[in-house]
Amino acid sequence: MSTSNKFHTRNATLANDDVQFIIAAFDSTLPYLASIGAGGMWGEQPFSQKDGFEEDTVDSIRKSEQNEDPSKVMIAEVETSDHVEGGERPQDAKVLTRVGAAVILDSLPSYLRAREELKAEIEKEKKFLYLEVIISDFRTDPLHRGAGAALIEAVKGYGRVNKYDTLYVDCWAGNGGRLNRYYEKLGFNHVGDFSFKRASGETWPGTLFSVDL
Ligand SMILES: CC(C)(COP(=O)(O)OP(=O)(O)OC[C@H]1O[C@@H](n2cnc3c(N)ncnc32)[C@H](O)[C@@H]1OP(=O)(O)O)[C@@H](O)C(=O)NCCC(=O)NCCS
Repeated sequence: MSTSNKFHTRNATLANDDVQFIIAAFDSTLPYLASIGAGGMWGEQPFSQKDGFEEDTVDSIRKSEQNEDPSKVMIAEVETSDHVEGGERPQDAKVLTRVGAAVILDSLPSYLRAREELKAEIEKEKKFLYLEVIISDFRTDPLHRGAGAALIEAVKGYGRVNKYDTLYVDCWAGNGGRLNRYYEKLGFNHVGDFSFKRASGETWPGTLFSVDL
């Protein structure tokens, strides 16, 4: 689909095991998040053990593939060499290793739409995309590094080609706002802060960001 530095991005497909890749990549983020003090972001339960997670992932990829709506599931890959023995002489074969994934929608989730503090922004009439999630596969460390930025560039490209005005993303603002700084470094602008109570009773602090396309 597109290439940025060493990364290739493409739409996810049900024709291979992208579903299993995405679920395993989500799982791989949990030990990383815990290690940087961000365990509160997604909790401890592996995504592979969450009811309905696999079905939802399949559904998202199906919609993305069928162009039913603008939602897209994208995969970032890196070309690596694999040493292949056998044949007349050993050789290096090029292989694509998946290192990250992103999901985009063209609507905001209800927990954002319901926020009084974001009302002024949300009621603006503009054509926007919402980056629902972005993940790297930490099993591929250090190959994945930079995959997040490459996926965001690919999402922006998709948005521009399809005449969207704005890309939104929201993130967990805990842990001293470290993830906020990641998005700021990538050019996103602070729109507003919000928080909500999780089923566990804990408060989940968040920030909404946007970037013009
Ligand atoms: C965000 C992410 C996709 C970026 O992927 P990447 O291009 O492979 O980049 P890196 O993993 O090298 O991380 C980039 C920087 O963001 C930081 N970062 C990543 N996720 C973070 C998080 N959840 N909280 C705080 N900081 C985070 C990293 O520590 C790193 O900072 P550094 O450069 O100061 O070390 C990836 O780090 C990831 O999957 N994080 C966990 C899941 C997540 O937070 N997704 C975003 C919300 S949906």
